[in-house]
Amino acid sequence: MKILITGGAGFIGSNFLLDSVQARKNDHFVNADCLTYAANLQNLSSLEGSSNYEFSRTDITNGQAVFDLFEKVEPDVVFHFAAESHVDRSITGPGAFIQANVIGTFNLLEAARRQKNKDVLFHHVSTDEVYGSLGPQGLFTEKTPYDPSSPYSASKASSDHLVRAYHRTYGLPVRITNCSNNYGPYQFPEKLIPLMIRNALQKKPLPIYGNGKNIRDWLYVGDHVSAIWAVQDRGKVGETYNIGGNNESSNIDLVQTLCRLLAEITNKPEHEYLDLITYVKDRPGHDQRYAIDATKIKEECAWTPSETIETGLRKTVEWYVQNQEWVESITSGEYQEWIEKNYGERDKS
Ligand code: NAD
Ligand code: DAU
Repeated sequence: MKILITGGAGFIGSNFLLDSVQARKNDHFVNADCLTYAANLQNLSSLEGSSNYEFSRTDITNGQAVFDLFEKVEPDVVFHFAAESHVDRSITGPGAFIQANVIGTFNLLEAARRQKNKDVLFHHVSTDEVYGSLGPQGLFTEKTPYDPSSPYSASKASSDHLVRAYHRTYGLPVRITNCSNNYGPYQFPEKLIPLMIRNALQKKPLPIYGNGKNIRDWLYVGDHVSAIWAVQDRGKVGETYNIGGNNESSNIDLVQTLCRLLAEITNKPEHEYLDLITYVKDRPGHDQRYAIDATKIKEECAWTPSETIETGLRKTVEWYVQNQEWVESITSGEYQEWIEKNYGERDKS
């Protein structure tokens, strides 16, 4: 199969490619990414030289560039990961989210439906945030009405609607997966877990929004990758599948667990990390609780997560402790300088 991945240099895309390229030698992978601040091509250095992998620096907001890419690659399947993904950034600057998530998805759908002589299967990687916020009871199912709160989740909801519309109107074969909060290696340290680990290691405050009682369902990124392949291999065309880790935790409980794990792994007293916890102003429109009913993917695609929150968090904390240079290079500007040096001239030609 010829597989086009968008956003493969980001957190989930990198993990997807690292888990898939070597394991699926009969498939050819093209990674199209414009390399925003959240991307890091160095994550994928182990794939350089793989005969079934190539990178294309493409901005999906550029419709012509997307058409050209489809003409060249002629994909059988698209796994669409590329997006602006951070809720707080969408509050301070929503425009980039409309461009990347709505216009970018539209450009890909147009290119997919116009692909000559073949059907392109379009797998849209989306979020549980499209369903809005839960109270203390209940779970999101695939039938929960959309009710997004942030510009990020509204942009993802818009892109989900476009994907379904292309299926119903043009018969484009599509699948949508709506996943809960991911964590694991290579996550940009603006999201809760890597931010807290980084701050703790640097003895900086650990900022908890509001009262810390907001709840998220945490999924190890490797389990998200296996879920996407389960949907590809066994899912039905035109369907939506929710993906969740069955690991609900309040933010404060999660951060305290991280502090205890860090203390154990770095051989320090727990209070050195726990004392850094600081309550700060709440996020505007902060959703209270997310929780997933993953029965459909379990029954139709035979998928369940492999990691528990204990095993996944331990792996993650160990990875960040061992890869502090990665964190510093991606946050210090060094990585953007590397992009300029390696891609700047080529992009101008
Ligand atoms: P990320 O921010 O780490 O990476 C996004 C990638 O998309 C980056 O490599 C970036 O360069 C690329 N990108 C952004 N705009 C682009 C554009 N205009 N053209 C080409 N590439 C562009 O995001 P992530 O956490 O890896 O999320 C990947 C996908 O999964 C997103 O669609 C997100 O909405 C979805 N998702 C994420 C989570 C999560 O917890 N992280 C959970 C559910 C769903
Ligand atoms: O649910 C899936 C979504 O999970 C994805 O679609 C998004 O791309 C991803 O960013 C994530 O969104 P969240 O807003 O849930 O993740 P974030 O890591 O930003 O925040 C998790 C929780 O922690 C949330 O309740 C806000 C809180 N928080 C976050 C940060 C960054 C804090 O209390 N302090 C912080 O500094």
